[in-house]
Parts: sequence; C-alpha cells; structure tokens
Amino acid sequence: MQNIQSYISENKNRFLDELFQLLRIPSISADPAYKENMAQMAEAIKNQCTQIGMDTVEICPTAGFPVVFAQKIIDPKLPTILVYGHYDVQPATPLDLWITPPFEPTLRDEKIYARGSCDDKGQVFMHLKALEYMISSHSLPCNVKVLIEGEEEVGSDNLPIFVKNNTKKLSADIILISDTAIIANDIPSIDCGLRGLSYVEVEVTGPSRDLHSGVYGGAVANPINILCDMISKLHDKNRKITIPHFYDEVELVSISERKLLSEAPFDIENYKNDLSIQDVMGETGYSTTERASIRPTLDVNGIWGGYIGQGAKTVLPSQAFAKISMRLVPNQDSGTITKLFQSYFENLAPAGVSVKVKPHHGGEAYVLPIDSIGYLAAEKAMEITFGKKPVPTRGGGSIPIVALFEKELKIKSILLGFGLDTDAIHSPNEHYGIFNLLKGIETIPYFYKNFVEMSNNK
Ligand code: BES
Ligand code: MN
Ligand code: MN
Repeated sequence: MQNIQSYISENKNRFLDELFQLLRIPSISADPAYKENMAQMAEAIKNQCTQIGMDTVEICPTAGFPVVFAQKIIDPKLPTILVYGHYDVQPATPLDLWITPPFEPTLRDEKIYARGSCDDKGQVFMHLKALEYMISSHSLPCNVKVLIEGEEEVGSDNLPIFVKNNTKKLSADIILISDTAIIANDIPSIDCGLRGLSYVEVEVTGPSRDLHSGVYGGAVANPINILCDMISKLHDKNRKITIPHFYDEVELVSISERKLLSEAPFDIENYKNDLSIQDVMGETGYSTTERASIRPTLDVNGIWGGYIGQGAKTVLPSQAFAKISMRLVPNQDSGTITKLFQSYFENLAPAGVSVKVKPHHGGEAYVLPIDSIGYLAAEKAMEITFGKKPVPTRGGGSIPIVALFEKELKIKSILLGFGLDTDAIHSPNEHYGIFNLLKGIETIPYFYKNFVEMSNNK
C-alpha cells in the first residue's frame, strides 16, 4: 500500500487544480444574487464525492440551499464517521481591499488566496482527498458518511429540520469537522469548545421624517445619538455586560481547567502586531485568550442611519439601526439571552423614541471532553503528523449545528481544524497555507485508524 505522504506529493498539483475549481465558484449564501452558484457548488461537491469513490451520493433539497450527502458503508458492524462541513462562504466585500480577486484563487508565499480557501472549502477538500486516498488504497478502516451544507454562514436555518428528519441516515459514532484553527504550524492544537450565538438587529425610531438639524436639533430625540447612548450602556466600566441575568447560567470554568488552557502558547505582542493595535481590551479579570473563548461577549457588528453620502447634509435622522452579536458559553441558552437582551434594550429607550429588536439566528455552545475517544484519536493523529502532541484549546467562533447534532443525534463532534487565526477568514485576502491543506490530508487517515482501534478497545 502506498503511504499517504507519497500519495500527497504525487498528487499535489492535481489537488490544487481541483480545489481551485471549487474556489472559483462564488457560493455566497447571504446574497440571493448567487443562488445559481450555490446550486453549481452543491453539484461540484457531489461530483467530487462520486469521483473519490463514495457509494451513495445525493443532493438533498431543503427549504434553503441543498445539503450534499454521501456515504460508503464497508461493513455495518464497523464504526461510522460522519464528516460535516460547509460549501457556502461569506460575502467577499469590500472587494477593493483584495490584492487578487476573491474568486480567482492565487498562490502567493505558499498560500492559497481566495474566499473560502480556509473557511471552509479548503478544509472540506482535505477530507475528500483523505477519503480518496483511503478508498483507492483500500485502507478505509470503517464506514463513512459525508454531510456538506450550504447555509452555515447564514446560521444553518434549515439544517436542523434535515437532521431531525434523517436521524437514521446520519447515524454515526463520531462527527469529524475541520472548520477551526490551530495555534501555529509548529504548535498543533484541538478546539474542545465552540461558543454559542445570539444575533439581533435593533431599530430606533424618533420623528416620523428626517428633520432639519438646525430647526429641530436639540429639541427632539436624535435616534442615532440615542442608539449610541443605549449601546454604551450595555457594558460597565469593567467591560462586563450589564443585561440583568445575562451571566446567571454561565459555566464557571474551574481554576485547574483555566490553568490548563492558559498553558497554550500565546504571544500578545504578535497578536497586537498582527491586528495593528496598541493594546487589547476586554473584561476585567480574564486573559485575552479567555476573553475570546470561555467568556460571553456582546459586540456591535454594524451600525447605520442618517446621512452618509458626499459632503454634509444637515439632517436629524428619523431612524437608526444596529446589528449586535452575543457570543455565548456553555449553559447559556440563546433563546433566553435574546429575550433578556430584548426586554433590557427596550427599557433603555427614552420616551422620545421607539425601539424594535428583531432576533436573527442563534445557536448553543459546545464542549468536548479531552478524555473522549474522539479527542484521543485526534490527539494521536496530530502527534504523528506534526511530531508534537496538540494542545487543547477553546475556540471563540460558533458552528451552531454542532450542539444540535449532539442533542438530536446524540453524537459528539471533534473539531479537527487546520486553519490559522491569521488566515483572515471572513475578511479580505482570506488564505489557506498549502502546508495546512496537505497536513490535513495527511492527518485525517490517522484519525480514522486511531478512532477505529480505540473504539475496538473500549
Ligand atoms: N468556521 C467558522 C467558525 C469558527 C472559526 C470556529 C474559527 C472557530 C474558529 C464558521 O464558518 C463561522 O464563521 N461561523 C459563524 C456562525 C454564524 C454565521 C451562525 C460565526 O462564528 O460567526
Ligand atoms: Mn466555517
Ligand atoms: Mn465562517
């Protein structure tokens, strides 16, 4: 049997060609203008699944964008690994900040620049190529199912129904996901947690029409001024969130676990340099790493209203808007948090304005114990391919379907991601290192092997 390393070096150029083809499809789920590209993208993933030798390959319609499902059952008595990922990407705007266009993948400094190169097409592709290797070399040690969705970046609204209606089809022993990051290329790590999310949009309305800011200014509530006042009241001087009962259910991480997490290497100077900031800021009493992983947060993602055109227009706007996200930690319920936000925010409004809070998507946090078979199998796989034991970390981002998988399918997920925080996911010039891409393809077959062996010894 040919080993994985020589398979990778022999096929590297073809791998890059194939991945580039996927990256050329602008599968932006948030923008209805790309609807046809979404269908094209699902088709391309389906074709990849067929090409690598999966047995059942189908495009399953949902009320939104379709899910691609594929499986290869070699023996029902063997364990089954379910691979999850997403083929949709974030919008690529602002386009003028890209050095090369987002959907014309380009190699620079051993990195692939394109929207979706890391999040998540590049990481999904690693699984397809690892499977191609295992299937073609007859070394696939267990059954495998693949589920690639097209709505992750817009909150996976239609996936829960698909999961509930297909519990048998999706039955498995573990879910394997590459959609997170490692600390550095020489410091492998495994995310043992994801944060939950509550996302809302707020609307503050004052007078029924835009007013002359000289004639009325100072006498009538200005919705933008008021919205800024209200937002500033959402944190106290210690950067704690002021919403009553917001922290009630927050999981208190034990001193020993905080100590373990603090052992993960973190260079604050590099962090500040990368972001071009003079200093960090956050909740008193927690480190930067903790603030971005085990603690809940509230951030304004966008704010608008009034006159933003050329020159000056003296106007007191009728309305102001903001989009606000709250990242949540284990035990916080996104529905409850959204309600707490709503009643507090509405009560912050003075009599001169009215306020509407519109809930968007949400999702729950997730944790994976480091003594589970999934973790141990991933740890051992990375130890072989990186030559170093990976460090357990807790991720700050969200993949809402992971908690739902656990609730509905009773299956744990293992987050075996290979990106870097500096890969600029969701930003201009997103990229993915060739090292990371190939390391992923190399590591995944070891995960399969270890997971099957460890399941047998259970
Ligand atoms: N892959 C990310 C999530 C992620 C990134 C987790 C880095 C850990 C480290 C995912 O595609 C994503 O962007 N999720 C959204 C979820 C939202 C749209 C519901 C997020 O976290 O904002
Ligand atoms: Mn992702
Ligand atoms: Mn994303």
